[in-house]
Amino acid sequence: MQNFTFQNPVKILFGQGRIQDLSREIPAGQRVLVTYGGGSVVKNGTLGEVRAALAHAQVTEFGGIEPNPTYETLMEAVILARQERSEFLLAVGGGSVMDGTKFISAAIPFEHGDPWDLVIRKAPVKAAVPFGTVLTLPATGSEMNSGAVITRKSLGAKLAFGSPLLFPRFSVLDPTRTYSLPPRQVANGVVDAFVHVLEQYLTYPIFAPVQDEFAEGLLRTLIRVGPETLQHPESYEPRASFVWAATLALNGLIGAGVPQDWATHMLGHELTARFGLDHGQSLAVVLPAMLEERFEAKKDKLAQYGERVWQLRDGSLENRAQQAIQATRAFFESLGVKTHLKDYGIQASEIPGLVQALESHGMTALGEKNDVTLGVSKRVYERAL
Ligand code: NZQ
Ligand code: ZN
Repeated sequence: MQNFTFQNPVKILFGQGRIQDLSREIPAGQRVLVTYGGGSVVKNGTLGEVRAALAHAQVTEFGGIEPNPTYETLMEAVILARQERSEFLLAVGGGSVMDGTKFISAAIPFEHGDPWDLVIRKAPVKAAVPFGTVLTLPATGSEMNSGAVITRKSLGAKLAFGSPLLFPRFSVLDPTRTYSLPPRQVANGVVDAFVHVLEQYLTYPIFAPVQDEFAEGLLRTLIRVGPETLQHPESYEPRASFVWAATLALNGLIGAGVPQDWATHMLGHELTARFGLDHGQSLAVVLPAMLEERFEAKKDKLAQYGERVWQLRDGSLENRAQQAIQATRAFFESLGVKTHLKDYGIQASEIPGLVQALESHGMTALGEKNDVTLGVSKRVYERAL
């Protein structure tokens, strides 16, 4: 196991009805900016429940944060929060609203310069307005981590940043608040959580049995409850397990002390920035191709994954490793998430532009061994066609 520092201060309020707890978590009279997306939380009653629980606070609202939240929209919220002198932010939504709120939180006190500098890491996050979240879409783990992914439309860039100052103070996880999700978003969420585990697990063997078995347990859980919760969206138990698995998939626990990859995410972000694929769709396309391209370096861990997660016991190590990739692709397809670029209307002629975008974003030495060069990435996109 490698040396590591593990920090996670997020208080989780899990279960049906927990939105009521906001009345205790937020002090009376506090100036709160509630942020949300395109209106799903208005329609499904979540925002109404939040308003009722915040009757004792001074609430301002900012709606309209779009999927893959943009700097352009978020800066409007920053201006509003500064005007209102907001003391606390409350994100009500999925990964986009939570990530967007992290940016707003860091941008409010960053008054001398362009807050985009925080995203491109030209300036460190030195201060942040405290915030909490009410989760409505299990997928990203943003509710229990300190990272965010922000898009700047005018530059065609989608970039990740983070800071220990950007952990939520608390997150409310009420699985019933996710019942209104359309199947496509549930499926995207299962894929995203699954790939988060793989990015931290499917590297090369080191002696880290705790992390490995935690990761394998999360994968097996997602394989079991993913299809079930897609089929029975209002059945509490599978949905609750999905929510908790997605949170634990990216709260730092399984990644502590082990090598991590994340190349699939970086190649996926370019697909979203240029072609608007959902985050989950982008991962379903890139991951199988990435594993095929880097087969030699990953085959030991792939075979372990095949044995322990997919119960593949026959054939050589190489054979089991290959079957594990196929099982992963078939799993994504079974959820209804397509795994080829062509399924999304993207042709080979687009690949040079994608590779150029990776280069301009500094994504030239990715992966657990920094050996995913632009040449490797190009071949991954080609395999993904
Ligand atoms: O905008 P509204 O109207 O709310 O609708 C949203 C949106 O259209 C809808 N939705 C959310 N909750 C709902 C609902 N519809 C009905 N009922 C509900 N209960 O779902 C759509 C997608 O929402 P979004 O927040 O964009 O999805 P997701 O949670 O998948 O977040 C994706 C974003 O998170 C980033 C991604 O890159 C992407 O920008 N990620 C953040 C990470 C992190 N912070 O750690 C890690 C991830 O790898 C990921 O990169
Ligand atoms: Zn992700």
